[in-house]
Amino acid sequence: MTERVVLAYSGGLDTSVGIGWLKDATGKDVVALAVDVGQGGEDMDDIRQRALDCGAVEAIVVDAKDEFANDFLMPALKANALYQKRYPLVSALSRPVIARHLARVARELGADSVAHGCTGKGNDQVRFEAAVAALAPELKSIAPIRDLALTRDKAIIYAEEHGLPIKQSKKNPYSIDKNVWGRAVETGFLEDPWNAPIEDLYEYTQDPDHDGPADEVTITFTAGIPTALDGVPVTPLQAVEQLNILAGKHGVGRIDIVEDRLVGIKSREVYEAPAAMALIAAHEELENLTLERDVNRFKRGVEAEWSTLVYEGLWYSGLKRSLDVFIDHTQEMVSGDIRMTLQGGRAVVTGRKSPKSLYDFDLATYDTGDTFDQSMAKGFIEIWSLPSKISAQRDLAQ
Ligand code: ARG
Repeated sequence: MTERVVLAYSGGLDTSVGIGWLKDATGKDVVALAVDVGQGGEDMDDIRQRALDCGAVEAIVVDAKDEFANDFLMPALKANALYQKRYPLVSALSRPVIARHLARVARELGADSVAHGCTGKGNDQVRFEAAVAALAPELKSIAPIRDLALTRDKAIIYAEEHGLPIKQSKKNPYSIDKNVWGRAVETGFLEDPWNAPIEDLYEYTQDPDHDGPADEVTITFTAGIPTALDGVPVTPLQAVEQLNILAGKHGVGRIDIVEDRLVGIKSREVYEAPAAMALIAAHEELENLTLERDVNRFKRGVEAEWSTLVYEGLWYSGLKRSLDVFIDHTQEMVSGDIRMTLQGGRAVVTGRKSPKSLYDFDLATYDTGDTFDQSMAKGFIEIWSLPSKISAQRDLAQ
């Protein structure tokens, strides 16, 4: 039997041409795999048919939206995951779920390799290949654009020569990756980091400068996961989809940063992630209410490490999995309600309550009824500052 390669297929020009290129260069039969992570746009059946028309021996479509939300977005939310404190890991989270399906399908069909359409300059190639290596170490990874030097110009010529059914829409100047957690926009005029983003770039968010009246939403969390919006039960996917609309309407979650890629390049990135940014703000505040002080503080450090590992393609690594265990344990008490106001590009928490709250009104109040014995503070501070005092005395004596 001819060897097979399973290609992560998006339906776009590069991966469509990649089907023929892979076959020509390797002799392997190409199986196209399209994974729906909520990128929207084209009908998945059209994408499937295009893969077959472009020469795939088989084309498989997987609806992974709930799986993506449950197994990837919720862990990211529990981790308040932001790379460089700003980027909610939109693309970094989708690669491990796509890779999981690549590895599964490759094994099921007895393929010896997988392929993806990444260039050699970005993070996504690392994420696909590191994930596949961790899940199915026997598989080889091939990247036709990178390894077979398939440029966009060559791809267009190849598509014309072979009569491939690719609609060459007016050339989109941007490189865009999107899923239900957000949208990443790069290249084009954004490559000059001094150029401001234009309104045209955005799809998930409205212009926050021309916003209407504020909306209020109450998000109920159960063990770190959103389970109701305004009292109506939701699945994780529904929570994300509905908040994308609600927070997106108010321009929440626009991000413009220069980012440190794993391959050493600094790149200018524009993101929009309305649900992600609103949910992270809400979840973090609920943790402030329900986690012990030192757990909360230590977790913030773990979150930064977790985010870096995921950004750098190590979703399935030992360290990341161990950090998940810690994070999951912290979430047992993270249940309750967060009320937010959405307006003018901001999602602001205005109220919080929890059956697991550590907030004690009688301790916190400055009114009568205060149960905090202030006389204890004096001795506490003496002992607390003792190391500083002793070292200061030593330094002064020298
Ligand atoms: N810089 C972001 C990341 O590394 C976004 C990558 C977007 N990918 C793309 N093919 N346009 O996660």
